[in-house]
Amino acid sequence: MRIKKIACIGAGYVGGPTMSVIAQKNPEIQVTVVDLNVDRINAWNNENLESLPVYEPGLDQVVLEARGRNLFFSTNVTKAIEEADMIFISVNTPTKTYGKGKGQAADLKFIELCARQIAEVSTTSKIIVEKSTIPVRTAATIKSILDHTGNGVQFHVLSNPEFLAEGTAIADLQNPDRILIGGEDQGAIQALKNIYQAWVPNERIITTNLWSSELSKLVANAFLAQRVSSINSISELCEATGANVDEVAHAIGQDSRIGSKFLKASVGFGGSCFQKDLLNLVYIARSYNLNEVADYWDQVIRINDHQKTRFAEKIIQSMYNTVNGKKIAFLGWAFKKNTNDTRESAAIYVADHLLEEQAKIAVFDPKVQKHQIYKDLEYLQSRTNSENEYLLEVAEDAYEACKDAHGIAILTEWDEFKDFDWDRIKDNMKKPAFVFDGRKLLDRNRLEELGFIYYAIGE
Ligand code: NAD
Ligand code: UDX
Repeated sequence: MRIKKIACIGAGYVGGPTMSVIAQKNPEIQVTVVDLNVDRINAWNNENLESLPVYEPGLDQVVLEARGRNLFFSTNVTKAIEEADMIFISVNTPTKTYGKGKGQAADLKFIELCARQIAEVSTTSKIIVEKSTIPVRTAATIKSILDHTGNGVQFHVLSNPEFLAEGTAIADLQNPDRILIGGEDQGAIQALKNIYQAWVPNERIITTNLWSSELSKLVANAFLAQRVSSINSISELCEATGANVDEVAHAIGQDSRIGSKFLKASVGFGGSCFQKDLLNLVYIARSYNLNEVADYWDQVIRINDHQKTRFAEKIIQSMYNTVNGKKIAFLGWAFKKNTNDTRESAAIYVADHLLEEQAKIAVFDPKVQKHQIYKDLEYLQSRTNSENEYLLEVAEDAYEACKDAHGIAILTEWDEFKDFDWDRIKDNMKKPAFVFDGRKLLDRNRLEELGFIYYAIGE
C-alpha cells in the first residue's frame, strides 16, 4: 500500500519536527499536522521562522523547504483524519496527576480521545501509528476502541516510538540509529517502512511484534537515565574521596563494553521523558507484582532527586549556611542546551530549594522565555506567584543577572557561557565570588586564577 496522505495528531516537540522531516524526505506525500492548541498551530504557520513553537537547530530550514508544499499545520483535526491513509498519534502522555496510579502511571486520556475521534470520523481504512511513548499493550486499547465503530472500516495499529533527543532532533531524525516498527500486519508494516526508506538504510529499520516495540521505548529511556544516575551517584563518591568524576567516566568509558556516551555527571537529568518513562516502567512492573524490578528502576529516579537536592545544599553550605537575601545568578533554565524546553529541568527544583531558603535568584537563559520560568515555579505550588516574582527575576542579559550576585549556579550547559568575560563578571560580583558548576562546563584553573571559589559536581 502506498501512502498518499498522512495526518499527525499533536504538533509538539515530537509531532512537529518528525513530520517536518517525513514531509521533507517524501515530497509526494501530503503531511498534515493537527493540534487542538490554536496558538501552537499559528506559531507553526508563522512566516517568521524564529517564532516556531519548538526551537531545534536546523528545524527552520526543513520547515521552510516543506511547509506549504506538502507539509501543513492545521487545527482541523476531523478533516485531516478523514482524508489520511495513515495517522500518527503524537500527543502527550504525561504522568497521571489524579486517581489510581497518581504520580506514576501514564495518563492515556489524550491517546484514548484520539482513538475515539479517529473511530468516529473515519469512513475509509487507515493505518494508525503510535508515535507517543505509551505503556506496553496500549495498542490493544486503541484497537479495541477502533474495532467497535460498527461501520466496517478496517484499522491496523502499529507502534513506531520516537528516539529523537531534544536539541539534536533534526540530526537524529535525518540520521537515526534505528527506526523501530512493531506490528502484526505485514502490509501495514511495509507501508510505514516505505516512508522511512526514503532516507533511512534498510538495515536500520527494525521490525518486532507490537509489545516489544512499545516496551523497547520505555526500556531505552530507562537505560539512558540509569547511566546518568549511575555516574551521578559516583560523582558524590568522587567528591568524598578526591577522585574526579570526569576522569573516572573517561577511564571506564574506554572499555568498549561500557562505552563513553551518557556518562557526563550533572546536576541531574531533566526533560519530559526520562522521569515520566521511568515512573511508568516502575508502575507497570508493580502492576505485575514484580516488586524487585520496580524497586531497581525506582532507584534511578531517587538518585536523580538526590543529585538536585545535593547541588542546592552544596550552594547553601558553601555560602556559610545561609542564602537568605543573597543574590544567586542562574545561568540556564532549559533542561539541556540547544532547546527552549524546560520540562522537569533540574533548574526548577534547585531554584525551588533555594527560594525556600529566601535566596534571591536572577535567571538568564538564552532561549527560555520569562513567562515559562514563572509557570514552571507556579506548577510546584510551593509559594504564591507574587512571592516567586518577588524572590526571582528573569534577566535579558547574563551580565545583568550576575551583577552584584554572591554566587553563580550553572544549570544548563549552553556553549556561550564558556565564552563569557568571566573577569568582568567577577569584578561586578560580591566577594568572595562563588561559581557552582552543575554541568562541569567551565575550566577550573581559569576560574580559580581569576579569583573565583569554584565548585563543580564530582570534583
Ligand atoms: P507535547 O506536549 O510537546 O505535544 C503534544 C501535543 O498534542 C500538544 O500540543 C497537545 O495540544 C496535542 N494534543 C493533545 N491531545 C490532542 C488531541 N486530542 N487532538 C489534537 N491535539 C492534541 O509533547 P511531545 O514532547 O511532543 O511528546 C509527545 C509524545 O512523544 C509523548 O508521548 C512523549 O513521551 C513522546 N516523546 C517525546 C520526546 C521528546 O523529546 N519530547 C521524545 C520521544 C518521545
Ligand atoms: C531523551 C532520549 O535521549 C531520547 O532518545 C528520547 O527519545 C527522549 O528522551 P532528551 O530528554 O531530549 O532525550 O535529552 P537527553 O539528551 O537524553 O538528556 C536528558 C537529560 O539527561 C538532560 O537533562 C541531560 O542534560 C541529562 N544528561 C544526559 C546528563 O546529565 N548526562 C549525560 O551524560 C547525558
